[in-house]
Amino acid sequence: MTTADTSRRTTTRTTLLELDGLAREFTGPGTTRTIAVDDVTLTVEDGETLALVGESGSGKTTLTRLLLGLLDPTAGTVRFEGHDLARLSPAEMRALRAGMQVVLQDPYSSMNPRMKVTDIVAEPLVTHDVTYRGRRARARLRERVGELLESVGLPARLQDRYPHEFSGGQRQRVSIARALASSPRLVVLDEPTSALDVSVQSQVLDLLVELQRQHGLTYVFVSHNLAVVRQIADRVAVLRRGRVVECGETATVLGAPRHPYTRELLAAVPRPDAYRTRTRTGTGTGTGGGTTGV
Ligand SMILES: Nc1ncnc2c1ncn2[C@@H]1O[C@H](COP(=O)(O)OP(=O)(O)OP(=O)(O)O)[C@@H](O)[C@H]1O
Ligand SMILES: [Mg+2]
Repeated sequence: MTTADTSRRTTTRTTLLELDGLAREFTGPGTTRTIAVDDVTLTVEDGETLALVGESGSGKTTLTRLLLGLLDPTAGTVRFEGHDLARLSPAEMRALRAGMQVVLQDPYSSMNPRMKVTDIVAEPLVTHDVTYRGRRARARLRERVGELLESVGLPARLQDRYPHEFSGGQRQRVSIARALASSPRLVVLDEPTSALDVSVQSQVLDLLVELQRQHGLTYVFVSHNLAVVRQIADRVAVLRRGRVVECGETATVLGAPRHPYTRELLAAVPRPDAYRTRTRTGTGTGTGGGTTGV
């Protein structure tokens, strides 16, 4: 890591995630091959937000699936908290999974519409903590789900509702609550606010920033929106055709890009400061009350 990389925060960081020479190919119909991720070497430091940017199809989601251990690499290694994911037993991998969670763009598609929010949010708790299993643990489980909902600005009583009874912003809060249930260290956010209205988007981003501060979370944040990236990320990695073409401190990469592709991405953004201007004058709701209409 360079001096510029550490200038934004003064504390010494430890490395949480190390990607080394990571690659993933897909074989399509016939003999077509797609190299979705190509020789990616990156580190993510504990407590930072690393943004992954790049045009559609540049390999952002595939890279996050590799780093979460949801997809096997064709080559290269992923180390989380020093453990090489490929060398873990299934039981060790399950245990490690508690420490890494994901929030997707469209939480609705990943939520079972027939499950109540209690059970949706409780799923990682029950999976990773035996003390939450069984009938006797039910009251304690409901209490914990209530706390998690409140921590994302939703009233605890909403846990008895179904996903379709929530607005888009509320549903995204539910999926954030679920991601936090197993007390992860790393949260991958894949376009977490892209499907939301601009005003709701900024409230959810404020919430993410506040939760990061409270829990010391590390974020890998995938976004098309460079204004949002500028606001939230410590560092940015620019992906093009599966390769990292530029990586560094956000202000440097977006302020003085070295690679022509990064310049192209920036040129495609009509108003790079739209989000920033809005939140400076707006009232961020953070994790407090009054956010349920979102
Ligand atoms: N399961 C798969 N099978 C075959 N090809 C795939 C698969 N998943 C991804 N790809 C291909 O890999 C490349 C990278 O896809 P990926 O979804 O990682 O891009 P992305 O940067 O997340 O794009 P977007 O911004 O649209 O979400 C694309 O060419 C895509 O078609
Ligand atoms: Mg994607």
